[in-house]
Amino acid sequence: MKNTGPFNAYISAVGHYFPEKVISNQFYVNYLDTTDEWIRTRTGIAERRFAEADQPTSFMAVKAAQMALENRGMTPDEIELIIVATVSPDMIYPSTACIVQDKLGAKNCWGYDILAACSGFIFALTTAVQFIQTGVHKNVMVIGADKMSMMVDMQDRNTCLLFGDAAAAVIIEATDDKNSGFLDNIMHIDGSGAKFLYQPGGGSLNPTTFETVEKRMHFVHQSGQNVFKEAVKGMADVSVEIMKRNNLSSDDIAYLVPHQANLRIIQATADRMGVSIDKVMVNIHKYGNTTSATIPSCISEYWQAGKIKKGDNLILTSFGAGYTWGSILLKWAI
Ligand code: COA
Repeated sequence: MKNTGPFNAYISAVGHYFPEKVISNQFYVNYLDTTDEWIRTRTGIAERRFAEADQPTSFMAVKAAQMALENRGMTPDEIELIIVATVSPDMIYPSTACIVQDKLGAKNCWGYDILAACSGFIFALTTAVQFIQTGVHKNVMVIGADKMSMMVDMQDRNTCLLFGDAAAAVIIEATDDKNSGFLDNIMHIDGSGAKFLYQPGGGSLNPTTFETVEKRMHFVHQSGQNVFKEAVKGMADVSVEIMKRNNLSSDDIAYLVPHQANLRIIQATADRMGVSIDKVMVNIHKYGNTTSATIPSCISEYWQAGKIKKGDNLILTSFGAGYTWGSILLKWAI
């Protein structure tokens, strides 16, 4: 979607939070039939972080939001809208956005959660941008936060070692400059992919019972190879499409910011786009797949390290359960 509104939106600040507890591959090697070598070579992950039992998703989300606010020099009561992307809300309801709003002390805003799994952050960002471009809001806080350590079956070696916990936040604000900030996006869903990545228990289809828990239906179920193939194709195709329709070659792209599910998926996506790996933001080796937090945490870490410059073209792309996928083109504006 190209911007047809009177204003444009740009990222004015970023922040992230990773829990302190480091979980190395050895943690899994100690009790599962796996090896450090398998995990590193098949996924690219060396370690990830786990939040403590008393640190739900909102805890991490608030920390990330506070860092973004501090970086912007903004107070919580200036925020007009909070959107939280998550598949691991503190509770089914109220929304995690409500809990974050209260803990932050953001007294003058409304907000809600978005569920698009690993594409949650780019879906939330695309939604937030509409409110700015149409002039409805002057600023929006967008948070990607997930406590995946609570969502995976620790006995399932196919999934448990892929994920970690994290949150990251961005503040979106309005600008008159139509050539800077968010320039374009392409978003898709295809529910025929639902059977390859899903959590069957705990919803209205299979409400929680002793039986659903016994069958471990409240955990992530994934058919890894199917998701792998579709993820590479999905992210590469939309990213190439967005480059073509904006007349950009890979030389014009400063950074590709892909969802961090597997280093081999990231590499294959970059290859198909003709983007060299040194232009790809990567933090999967340190944190694993943090679902909604992968893309904003990459941006926040690279920004903190002084690696993003004003005027840089960034392509954000993700693929996740649903299937959900998409690509965002933005020109860094700060
Ligand atoms: N340790 C050791 N061996 C393992 C293992 C583990 N933790 N997990 C699986 N294996 C084995 C399998 O049993 C299989 O053995 P076999 O050949 O004897 O049958 C072998 O390793 C290869 O399994 P396969 O599933 O083909 O591995 P893969 O290369 O596809 O890697 C994933 C598995 C899950 C890492 C990979 O498919 C993946 O990343 N998928 C996509 C994840 C994703 O993008 N999710 C998206 C959004 S969140």
